[in-house]
Amino acid sequence: MKRKLAIIGAGAVGTSAAHWAVVKNVAEEIVLIDIMEGLAKGKALDIAQSSAVYGFSNRIWGTEDWQALENADVVIITAGRPRKPGMSRDDLLQVNLEIVKSCTEKVKEYAPNCCLIVVTNPIDAMVYTAFKISGFPRKRVLGMAGVLDSARYRYFLAEALGVSPKDVQALVMGVHGDHMLPLVRLANVAGIPVKDLLPQEKLSEIVERTRKGGAEIVSYLKTGSAFTTPGLSAVEMAEAILRDEKRVLTCSVWLEGEFGIRDVFLGVPVVLGAGGLEKILEFPLTEEEKEALSLSVEHVRNQIAKTNL
Ligand code: 2OP
Repeated sequence: MKRKLAIIGAGAVGTSAAHWAVVKNVAEEIVLIDIMEGLAKGKALDIAQSSAVYGFSNRIWGTEDWQALENADVVIITAGRPRKPGMSRDDLLQVNLEIVKSCTEKVKEYAPNCCLIVVTNPIDAMVYTAFKISGFPRKRVLGMAGVLDSARYRYFLAEALGVSPKDVQALVMGVHGDHMLPLVRLANVAGIPVKDLLPQEKLSEIVERTRKGGAEIVSYLKTGSAFTTPGLSAVEMAEAILRDEKRVLTCSVWLEGEFGIRDVFLGVPVVLGAGGLEKILEFPLTEEEKEALSLSVEHVRNQIAKTNL
């Protein structure tokens, strides 16, 4: 069966996602959509021309026409403004709210059966917006954050241990913001707990650096935020759905009592397959972890309230 991936927003993250999607061969057709005339066309054409050198045969194209969403199995929304130094993700809420609302209306119109992945910041509030506007079931509306935050956490741990990041497994739950919860208790390298390998002081430093991982990059770039790993993280989720892989990835999903939390989007480990969210992997948290997670819940509730949806 021919698989189609649509990516809305031909900014840095959308373009990176399109690039990774082609390299990883996740769909036969990849379309990049942006309302700015020529932007998606140009970016997609540039990627398409690399096919001769790299050797791929997927169709990648760009357009301003929303009708291109038709028959998309997965749609990734990246449209919106990025952060500048000194800004928090929450500062983007009002401007990106209208953008995500209008993109979701189009998704609902042209691709009513797709799985929707939201990347626009502040992610947990924007995925809530897409959930409300689309009316899609919760299994088809997911926010990308946990894959990115866990990737940063794993990378920092690997760097400190002097090992390959591939062998580090670790999980970051909660909000995509300063209150996210990188779990130290469960982080391991090839099954060995990292708390047995690194001093507590170093672990605390890594947890803090992970929480501020996005801001660190914004402070270097000055004109925007990270895009390579955010783009890949969204594609990793799309791939799990398009290939029905049953991957265990942390995604922002609508909770209905799992972990004792309801009516809020929050990053938790889930199984992703053809149906989108197929299962939430619930496990017991310590009192300390529950308390830390409650800060995330409070933060997302405040964000959600500001959407007036
Ligand atoms: C980040 O953390 C863009 O929010 C994204 O880099």
